Amino acid sequence: MNNVDAILQSGQAALAAVTDLIELEQVKARYLGKSGELTELLKQLGKLPAEERKAAGATINVAKQAFEAAHKQRFEQLNAAKLAAQLAAEALDVTLPGRGSAGGGLHPVALTLERIAGLFRTMGFEVADGPEIETDFYNFQALNIPENHPARAMADTFYVEGGDVLRTHTSPIQARFMMDNQPPIKIVAPGRVYRVDSDATHSPMFHQMEGLWVEEGVSFADLKAVVTDFLRRFFERDDLQVRFRPSFFPFTEPSAEIDVLGERGWLEVGGCGMVHPNVLRNVNIDPEKYTGFAFGIGLDRFAMLRYGVNDLRLFFENDLNFLRQFN
Ligand code: FA5
Ligand code: MG
Repeated sequence: MNNVDAILQSGQAALAAVTDLIELEQVKARYLGKSGELTELLKQLGKLPAEERKAAGATINVAKQAFEAAHKQRFEQLNAAKLAAQLAAEALDVTLPGRGSAGGGLHPVALTLERIAGLFRTMGFEVADGPEIETDFYNFQALNIPENHPARAMADTFYVEGGDVLRTHTSPIQARFMMDNQPPIKIVAPGRVYRVDSDATHSPMFHQMEGLWVEEGVSFADLKAVVTDFLRRFFERDDLQVRFRPSFFPFTEPSAEIDVLGERGWLEVGGCGMVHPNVLRNVNIDPEKYTGFAFGIGLDRFAMLRYGVNDLRLFFENDLNFLRQFN
């Protein structure tokens, strides 16, 4: 029994020396395990004379409790240190700037659309829209394009089951709007349109914006003034040369193509004309009382001109390196 104190002291020193929880449990086993040093002392109690046994047992138990208390304290220290180390290793500094997730941006055609719609809003036009899958009536018949009219072949139409079409232009929106509203009418209507067509300046899906002003006394002079003013503001050039080149559309009379003079010569940006009396009659507007003009411009062409892009297909390939330039 003389070495109980010595065993306890070496046990406490061993506990103080361990550096992790595994070592800690190994030290505990060395003293309190099946054949641990303190356990062995307890086993030997039976060999002592009866009168010494009680005092010796009490001494060993005190030592055992002291060892257990030291073990518990060390266990808590090591656990706290482990937690602190883990917290330090996994710490997030929420005040650091982010790793630079790239900001998104609008597509160049969307930017162009917004800019053009904004310019027309300042001239008193409202924005309207219509469906991309259109009936034969609104895409053709209401617009004075009867069945077997050559303009239908001109349009290179995508047909949908059941006789509907993917609209070939935004002009059906003007017919729809006039069917539902009486003059004065002053709208622009942007949207996707579809044609069987594909090269550097033609895409099977592209964007147009329709313009329509119907009211008493609206004339071709108003058409020229509105379109010229819009074009000069869009291209930010007061001296921009604009040309109205006589042309044909079944839904306007007279009709013209709109050309602007660019660095590489005259460029067609849209079509226009005075709304044909037949169209007004088809949508229940009195052509004796009201006149109006309409135009349809190619938004992708405006985006190409504004951003100096020479191949329309670049707009629709979703190449992020190309698109990021417009953020
Ligand atoms: C029309 O689509 C008529 N609806 C425009 C119109 C409206 C005339 C109202 C009169 C009154 P056009 O097919 O020319 O017309 O097309 C108009 C513009 O769309 C063209 O000037 C061109 O800028 C653009 N465009 C036509 N086809 C394509 C295409 N495949 N890809 C990209 N842009 C195109
Ligand atoms: Mg044309």
